[in-house]
Order: sequence, then C-alpha cells, then structure tokens
Amino acid sequence: MSTSIILAAGEGTRMESKKSKVLHEILNKPVLEYVLDASVNAGIEKNIIVAGENKFQIEEKFSNRDLIIREQKIGDNIPYGTGYAVMQALDVIDDNEEIIILYGDTPLITSKTIKDFIDNHHENNFDASVLTAVIDEPSGYGRIIRDETGHVLRIVEDRDANKEEKEINEVNTGIYIFNGKLLKDTLENINNNNAQNEYYVTDAIGILKEEGHKVGGCIMANSTEMHGINSREQLANCTKIMAKRINNRHMDLGVTIIDPENTYIDENVKIGQDTIIYPNVRLEAGTNIGEDCIINGSTRIENSILGNNINIESSVILDSKIDDNTKIGPNAHIRPGSEIGKNVRIGNFVEVKNSKIGDNSSAAHLTYIGDSTIGERVNIGCGVVFANYDGKNKFRSKVGDDVFIGSNSTIISPVEIENKGFVAAGSTITKNIKSKSLVVARARQKEINNWVKD
Ligand code: UD1
Ligand code: CA
Repeated sequence: MSTSIILAAGEGTRMESKKSKVLHEILNKPVLEYVLDASVNAGIEKNIIVAGENKFQIEEKFSNRDLIIREQKIGDNIPYGTGYAVMQALDVIDDNEEIIILYGDTPLITSKTIKDFIDNHHENNFDASVLTAVIDEPSGYGRIIRDETGHVLRIVEDRDANKEEKEINEVNTGIYIFNGKLLKDTLENINNNNAQNEYYVTDAIGILKEEGHKVGGCIMANSTEMHGINSREQLANCTKIMAKRINNRHMDLGVTIIDPENTYIDENVKIGQDTIIYPNVRLEAGTNIGEDCIINGSTRIENSILGNNINIESSVILDSKIDDNTKIGPNAHIRPGSEIGKNVRIGNFVEVKNSKIGDNSSAAHLTYIGDSTIGERVNIGCGVVFANYDGKNKFRSKVGDDVFIGSNSTIISPVEIENKGFVAAGSTITKNIKSKSLVVARARQKEINNWVKD
C-alpha cells in the first residue's frame, strides 16, 4: 500500500496574500489539488497533507476529498523544517506502508513522473529513493552527493554546502520514497545542527546510507516539473506552462488553437475534432464542446455543454447547454440554466437566463429572455423583454411553436402564447394568447392635424 505525505505547512510569505499559497489557483484549480491528483493518478491510495496555519482553509477547500490532514504547529520556539513536517504524519502511518513524500506547492509534477519514480524504486530494490534533477542553476537547492561509483551518499543543503559541493548541478527535488518503519526509525535520529537550525528530511537519506541501506537516486526526465510556487510571478509562470500542456493535448487530438499563448483552457474541458479556438478564449471547468465549432472573440464558457458546428462570438456562456448548428453573439450572455436548441440564432446584446429555446428559433438583437420556455421556429423581434420579476417573485412564461413576437414588445410574465400566436410590435402582453391570434396591445395611433402652428 502506497501513502503520500504532501508537505504544505510552509507560510508562503512572498505571495503577500491572505490566502494560503497552496490554495492559489492555476486555471481554476488550487495548486495543492494538482499535486493531490498527480498522487492519486499515480495509484497512491492514502494521501496525507501536512498543513500549517492554513489547516482550516485546506480542510474547507478539500472537504469532499478522501485525505488525511495533519497539523504542523508553526510559531516561535516550535521546531521547523521538512523533517519536522514529515514527523507530524508518522502517527497515521503503518510500518509496512510505502511512503512517497511530495510538496504541496509544486503543481507541475505529473502522475507519470511519480509512477516512473516508484517503478524505478521497485526495480532496483531500493530501501529509500530520492528523485533528483539536473539543472543549470542549482543555487538554493540541496545537492546530491554521490560516490565514485555513482551511488547516492547524502544530500547537502545549499546553505551547508562547501565550495566544491555547490558546483554539483544534480539537485534534490524534495520527492522521496521510504518504507514506513525505516522512515520512523530514521527521523528519530535527525537533529537541527545545521545552518538553518531546521530538521531536514534530507538527512534521512544520508543516515540510511550510512546504516548500510540501499539508497537510490533517480533523475527526473523534465526538471520543470519540480518548479514550486513561492511568488505571484512563479504562479503566473506555472499557469503558462500548465496552459501550454493542456493546449498541446487538445491540438494533438485535432483542435485548432490559433494562438496557444493567449488561450486558457481548464484541465478537464473536452473539445471535439476540427473545432477552432481563436485568441483570448477562456474555457472553464465542466465545459464540453463538440466538433467543428468556432469559438471567437473574447468568449468565456464555464461549465457548459455545446454540440457540433456551433459558432460563438465574443460571448459569456455559463452553466448552460447549446445544441448543434446554433450561432451565439457577438456579445450575448447565456446565463445559468439555459438550454438552447438546434439551429438557433442568439444575436448581439441578447441575454438568456434559465430559459429553454426550441430548435430553429431566433432572438437576433437586444433581447432579454428570463425564466421562459420558447418553442420551435419562434421569431423574437428586436428589443423584446420578458418581464419576469415583480420586485418580489420571478414568474415563467411559455411561448409555443411558430410564434412571432414583434419588436419592442414586453411580455409581462406569467403568460402563455399558444402555437402560431402573433404579437404586434410594441405590444405589452399581460394575458395569454390563443393559437393563431394576432394581438395588438398598444395605444392606437391618433393623428391631430395642424397641431403645430406656423
Ligand atoms: C527543500 C530541500 C532541498 C530541495 C528543495 C527543493 C530540505 C531540508 N531541503 O529545500 O534539498 O532541493 O526543497 O525545492 O528538505 N515545509 C513544511 N514545513 C516545514 C518546512 C517546509 O510543510 O517546516 C514544506 C513547504 O511548504 C514546501 C516544502 O516543505 O512545500 C519545502 O520547503 P522549503 O522551505 O521550500 O524547502 P527548501 O529549504 O527550499
Ligand atoms: Ca523551496
């Protein structure tokens, strides 16, 4: 059984934030959740997070996740360091568990890297392993000290390293594998006699080696995966890298992204083949787009399902469904709970809220459709308003098939307009309309001749 200990008690002062740094989001998902998901997807069933002062924030955010949260008390005269952090998780670990230590602030780590690392550990029968990276600028990181034959001897922290050691460019990523019993026994033997007076988990590697255990060092294939988040600049950099990964995956599956540098798509979004995404489009969590669509302009789509061959221009679409061959925008606002049928036209400055619009209907300009059900082949003229709110309550209207609503009409809900009903332009509708009736509900035009005196 594999268990992760995800260290997340560090304070993250450089973020200058009220919020814990591991809860800052990359593409609508907390930094810590990327690490947790990588761990779960690598097959690790038990996940322990060591939290600090952010404990309550983490508990709240991850209340629906299967994990164990341990607290590391932070304060003056309380020990500090990665070794001390790991100790806080030991009482929920069994001796025979395999422990993978991860950091909560390194969202770019992938499940594949964790898996490969675990496989390497097993294939070589190591008692403990450290995941390392070879980088051009190792300053700041712990260095990996190996013997002439290439075996890992120990890890030396940057601040404790001598001149020669500082030249080593193989560094500690902070990711390790230990056996539960060995980890417990070894951490009892570490101390804080170092430049930072901290308890270093890195010391466990040196101690185990000295005791004659088989210690492995596995080099990470892509060192960008170890990048941590300590500042807003690093958050922005990681967001770019994550967006690029996601965009590449969609392009590999046959989606055209005109300008991947300026397109931000959340992790679990699905997009069909031959859909084209223009610059500045934002596709958020829960969105599923079909094939042959064109998403253009500054469009934001959140948690919505789109069919095939849909054309969206500079619009906002939230928690809604849109069916095949429909055109939306420019500048339309489709608000939560809307279901828009096939071959519908929702034009400029049209707002739809919690409404259903049948196939082949059209609301092409300047309209508000709220809390209503509209049938098929309905024409809603320019400037039509469904007045759904009386200041206290919301009301629903129902419009049948083949209805024509003339421009600048107000439908005072609740009303029902039966199939083929016809509303003359400029009407204010307060009562139901029978099938095939024409209703003219506006003041009759009067003409007073010679009203203007010369
Ligand atoms: C640590 C490693 C170093 C490695 C580097 C990689 C040690 C002693 N050094 O250095 O070899 O190259 O990571 O980034 O382990 N944390 C806690 N509680 C603590 C201290 C830290 O939860 O008391 C967490 C932090 O939130 C962070 C992680 O542990 O996620 C690493 O802490 P950090 O202070 O960044 O470690 P470094 O000193 O950079
Ligand atoms: Ca660090």
